[in-house]
Amino acid sequence: MAYKIAILVGSLRKDSLNRKVARSICALRNDNLDCSMIEIGDLPLYNQDLDESPPEQWLRFREQVGAADGVLFVSPEYNRGIPGGLKNAIDIGSRPYGKSVFDKKPAAIVTVSPGSIGGFGSNHQIRQAAVFLNMPVMQQPEAYLGHVNDDSFDADGCLKEGSLKDLVSVLAHAFSGWVEMIHRSRALLAE
Ligand code: FNR
Repeated sequence: MAYKIAILVGSLRKDSLNRKVARSICALRNDNLDCSMIEIGDLPLYNQDLDESPPEQWLRFREQVGAADGVLFVSPEYNRGIPGGLKNAIDIGSRPYGKSVFDKKPAAIVTVSPGSIGGFGSNHQIRQAAVFLNMPVMQQPEAYLGHVNDDSFDADGCLKEGSLKDLVSVLAHAFSGWVEMIHRSRALLAE
C-alpha cells in the first residue's frame, strides 16, 4: 500500500533550496510513499472570523492535507523561527476547533539553510506545533541541514552525490518506515 504524503514547504521562493531538498526526498523515498507538494503561498491569512465562511483556498488546503496519510514539513528558518507562510498554513489546517486536518498524521520535520545551524530554531518551533496538534513526529534522524546552497544541486535541481544526499536518503527511508509503522500499529490495535 502507498501512503499519501502531503509536503509543506515553508519557502515560497521559486529557486528555494528547501523545495529542491523536498523534491530529493520524494525521489529517494521508499515505494510505500506517494508524495505531493501542497501549495501554501495563496492562502489568505488565518482569521477566526472567517471560520463560518472560509475562503476557498483554505478549503482546498484542508482537503488536500486531510486526504493525506502523513505530512512532511520542509522549511527554512526566518529570524530563528517558522516562516510566516508556513505558520499561517499550520493555523489554517488546525481549525475549526476539533477538526484539525493534522490530527494523528505521522510527520517529519526537515529544515534547510545555507547557515551552519541548519534552521534549528525553526525546526523546533514546527516540532512544537506538530506535537501540540497530536502528530506523531519522527524523532530520529533529526534533520537540520546546514551549509546547503545552490552548489549542492546539479543543473536539474537534484542533490549532487555526497554526504548531504546520503543524509537525505537516510531521512527519506526513515520517514518511509515511520509512516508505515504508525499506520500498521494503528491497524493492529483496531483488529
Ligand atoms: C533568512 N535566512 C535565515 N537563515 C538562517 O539560518 N536563520 C535565520 O534565522 C534566517 N533568517 C532569515 C530571514 C529572512 C526573512 C530570510 C529571507 C532569510 C536565510 C535563509 O536560510 C536563506 O535565505 C534560505 O535560502 C531560505 O530558504 P529557501 O528559500 O532557499 O528555501
